[in-house]
Amino acid sequence: NKLTITAICGSLREGSFNRRVLKAMEELAPKHWEIHHVDLSTIPLFNSDIESQGDPQPVVEFKESIRIADGVLIVTPEYNMGIPGVLKNALDWASRPGKSSVLIEKPFAIAGATPGGGGTAQSQAQVRQTLLAMNAYTMPGPKVLIGSVHEKLNETTGELDDESTLRHLQRFLTAFEEWILVFKQTQK
Ligand code: FNR
Repeated sequence: NKLTITAICGSLREGSFNRRVLKAMEELAPKHWEIHHVDLSTIPLFNSDIESQGDPQPVVEFKESIRIADGVLIVTPEYNMGIPGVLKNALDWASRPGKSSVLIEKPFAIAGATPGGGGTAQSQAQVRQTLLAMNAYTMPGPKVLIGSVHEKLNETTGELDDESTLRHLQRFLTAFEEWILVFKQTQK
């Protein structure tokens, strides 16, 4: 009953709060989850001229990491009330070719963190919209909208250690597994 989960962080920076949320999720995740991390930094800007000559290797690997996954977890910041460009760019690559995209009917869950107050709600709404375009199965909730994330870290290690946030992440992960299993059972 192993589950393959592909994890995407929408921030490229090393000290990313969102990456720390992903790390906390990884520690909370059930032992039978095998989590693969994706590096968006090597994915070039989408260009149909490049695509028509064949996907660049980082794009091939990115699509493959989604194809093999039972579920894909996206943890992303919000930039200017929306989805970070690097994440949108990667999802645009993955959306092609439209009729056989790896996003189609793939279970997704979205989470995000910000030092601000809005919890990345608008960014997550845009990610959801992008995935909807490709008929991905994005979990409706529970939502993970972590505001004031900088106040929820361990002072020494910098890891996310706010107890109620960790409990919420646990609920989110449990719900995501249930969400994934609904579709695994209906697969032909
Ligand atoms: C931000 N930030 C931000 N935060 C937010 O809650 N809503 C927003 O609209 C924006 N807009 C925004 C635009 C740009 C260009 C940057 C660089 C930043 C702040 C953002 O939440 C903060 O930088 C986080 O630390 C980014 O996430 P990581 O890299 O820590 O995961």
